[in-house]
Amino acid sequence: MTDKLIIFDTTLRDGEQSPGASMTKDEKIRIAKALEKLRVDVIEAGFPIASLGDFEAVQAVANTIKDSTVCGLARALEKDIDRAGDALKGAASARIHTFIATSPIHMQEKLCMSPDQVLEQAVKAVKHARQYTDNVEFSPEDAGRSEIDFLCRIIEATIDAGAGTINIPDTVGYTLPEYFGHLIAELRERIPNSDKAIFSVHCHNDLGLAVANSLSAVINGARQVECTINGLGERAGNAALEEVVMAVRTRHDIFPCHTDLETTQIVTCSRLVSNITGFPVQPNKAIVGTNAFAHEAGIHQDGVLKHRQTYEIMKAEDVGWHANRMVLGKHSGRNAFRNHLQGLGIEFNSEEELNVAFTRFKELADKKHEIFNEDLQALVTDALTIVHEQIKLVALRVCSEMGETPHASVTLNINGIENSVSAKGSGPVDATFKAIETLVNSNMNLLVYSVNNVTNGTDAQGEVGVRLEKEGQIVNGQGADTDIVIASAKAYLNALNKILNPVERKHPQVVQPV
Ligand code: KIV
Ligand code: ZN
Repeated sequence: MTDKLIIFDTTLRDGEQSPGASMTKDEKIRIAKALEKLRVDVIEAGFPIASLGDFEAVQAVANTIKDSTVCGLARALEKDIDRAGDALKGAASARIHTFIATSPIHMQEKLCMSPDQVLEQAVKAVKHARQYTDNVEFSPEDAGRSEIDFLCRIIEATIDAGAGTINIPDTVGYTLPEYFGHLIAELRERIPNSDKAIFSVHCHNDLGLAVANSLSAVINGARQVECTINGLGERAGNAALEEVVMAVRTRHDIFPCHTDLETTQIVTCSRLVSNITGFPVQPNKAIVGTNAFAHEAGIHQDGVLKHRQTYEIMKAEDVGWHANRMVLGKHSGRNAFRNHLQGLGIEFNSEEELNVAFTRFKELADKKHEIFNEDLQALVTDALTIVHEQIKLVALRVCSEMGETPHASVTLNINGIENSVSAKGSGPVDATFKAIETLVNSNMNLLVYSVNNVTNGTDAQGEVGVRLEKEGQIVNGQGADTDIVIASAKAYLNALNKILNPVERKHPQVVQPV
């Protein structure tokens, strides 16, 4: 039996730090349930001191999840740790993750503290966290740019203080695989009590090396990897969970460890996170991109048909890809619909949510004969957001004719009052967005507009993502429909609705300690 590699998922915390990726409490619960089905060991659910919303989301995840440890992030400050401890009270298994920066530049310029002060605060924080749980993780932030002698001192002291996991973050994605692997080996070798803690790594992807750095650390003895679904995260993101897990599994000849993940849930999780955050997955993304297992070139197809392993190193089914399979149809009833979604890890919080989703399903089934799991996920994300929206799309008519300027007529219900307007544009989508803007007057800048098909075929739903910006505030919106102009209007309104309910939160690494 090989060692176990602990998979610590931080999609709900570091992933949420991606500009525009903030999630509501209900969305976090949906993702947490999917992660539990994926059998991740630890779910970092948020930064409870950041805002009341964050606190409540961590609390809700802690109260819901039974099979994974739920973790809350806290700066090395008593008040942060108390807030995390409170949020995690209901958890079947809780962890507090506390951190303080250790690189010269962070200590001098951000914290304005000496190394000795930092060490003292870290030890105090770990001891304080131990009053809430014996499962405490300590991170020397920006370890990738910290001095190794100081890292050895602070890690030894925090292990003595009761930290059972020591996480080595490459906060700014600066290290290289060989250096990072050696760093882990050297820390384990030089720190006298290193055998009392599990060494973990947390790599950012600024140089596109987050997964490579994490894997190099694993080869050198790290036994926890912090990662996110689809590699979501601050700036260029974190190490992608699916890539780390499948590398360890596929190259078991190299890695002396295994994970307990139910890898067939990977694609479902990837889709869910992409739907909820509005961050599309690029087609050529390893493991979860739509092309990841597509063998386009004739020679490859021929090889794969003769013997699969000629060109395939993993089985698509092992990560949850399956040939598009019809799962429900026009005649499926409400119970079949609810049961099927339960099987996908989707539950409704109220009858109202179920009714809206079921109505949307029936509408879709009228337009599209075969409904696949991918359709259901897109449809449910859409339906659940609609229930809580302040601005609702009531009607949309577009006219697009060769040689004529396209125009759109839009009716919106804004806080219970209906209004209609028409506008012209360079295309039907442009006209629709202009009409919506005439009614809403948000003056947001459209940064990104993307359309992807949810399944194959011309009757497939189009999934539209938009990214809007105003005065530095960024929101993502998404919408799905078999009509891509309607999907576009939904995505635009979804983003505007998020702007109307901005999530106020502190950023764990940017706010100064007080
Ligand atoms: O990147 C980082 O250093 C972090 C820490 C809070 C672990 O996210
Ligand atoms: Zn991070």
